[in-house]
Amino acid sequence: MKIALLGVGVVGGGVLDIVDRRDDMELKYVLVRRDKPELGSRAVKDIDVILNDNEVDTVVEVMGGLSPAYEYVSAAMKAGKNVVTANKHLVAHYYKELVSLAKEMGVAFRCTPAVGGGIPWLKNLERAARLDRIDSFCGIMNGTTNFILDNMHVNGSDFGEVLAEAQRLGYAEADPTADIDGLDIQRKCIISANVAFGACFSEEDVPVFGIRSIKACDIEAAVSMNRVCRILAFGKDCGGRVSAYVEPVFVASGELEAAVSKAMNIISFVTGLSGKESFYGQGAGRYPTAYNVVQDCVDVMQGVKSFYTDKMEDMKPDNSAEKHPYYVRFAGSDEWLESMTLEVCGDGAVICDVSVADMHAWAAKAKEVDPALFFAGIV
Ligand code: HSE
Repeated sequence: MKIALLGVGVVGGGVLDIVDRRDDMELKYVLVRRDKPELGSRAVKDIDVILNDNEVDTVVEVMGGLSPAYEYVSAAMKAGKNVVTANKHLVAHYYKELVSLAKEMGVAFRCTPAVGGGIPWLKNLERAARLDRIDSFCGIMNGTTNFILDNMHVNGSDFGEVLAEAQRLGYAEADPTADIDGLDIQRKCIISANVAFGACFSEEDVPVFGIRSIKACDIEAAVSMNRVCRILAFGKDCGGRVSAYVEPVFVASGELEAAVSKAMNIISFVTGLSGKESFYGQGAGRYPTAYNVVQDCVDVMQGVKSFYTDKMEDMKPDNSAEKHPYYVRFAGSDEWLESMTLEVCGDGAVICDVSVADMHAWAAKAKEVDPALFFAGIV
């Protein structure tokens, strides 16, 4: 296999190291923006050098972002090259276009590292879906936010300081807004829903609430309930109606998710035949993510010629029937919130069962009054 690598940041550097140690694949080019003398003649700045070289059969995209990644990946497919990417933003946004183009061109399109870093989540979700209906999936899909929440719980760390540490360790996105506002998880949720249910969701339709506004008092509230705060992605097929959302959750301390520390991820699916299966591992970082990139390349070498599913049905998630209590910390006065309140809890309140759709719609408006608003599901 002759590979061209687009991008040589945290993950790309790991791919380079792993591929260079193998004798069944060769990294012929690395597309760079700035001079990288250490890469010698492999460094190129012109994508056309890669596209026009018939020896290159596989393009590995780890540059991140939508543009020019989309243009480069599409052009590579049109030039008959397989594509492996770790770019969840690209896949979640252009899922339909890229899967269709890969199919038309007869090339492979794989993105296992895009969800769960080093965990073989998408591969196993694909395997489960080929045998049985996926009833639901749920999990911790972001290393940076789990690292922050775990440190706040265990060490009483300050949000800003622990975020800077996650950036230093190479977990966070270039713009960590995507991590702390939950957008990175939303994209991973969308890709998982595609593979699990054949559903095509748009980013604007999947409700997401991040942890930007979490404070020590919210962690204390979770602890007072014998719970641990985590941020989770959910997807559920209720026979024609599919729900999908991302929100902080106060998880009961005996649950698997509560025990997941540092930048680790855990993602589970449920099927009628298998019951619940959980996948746990390094959700972010150079070598775990690069490991899954190279695993995808090996799959392509072994003949994989497709995406994980062919099913692509445009739909909007319906979260109106997903109901549970919430913890809410809101500084303003609000009649609806007061009417729902069961008990005061520290600086916040516990409210009775509300649908996910209603809670997220209320929070979107309430944030205009109190930008420091925080809420978490209690499940
Ligand atoms: N920023 C992401 C995370 C990287 O923290 O999980 C892996 O997708």
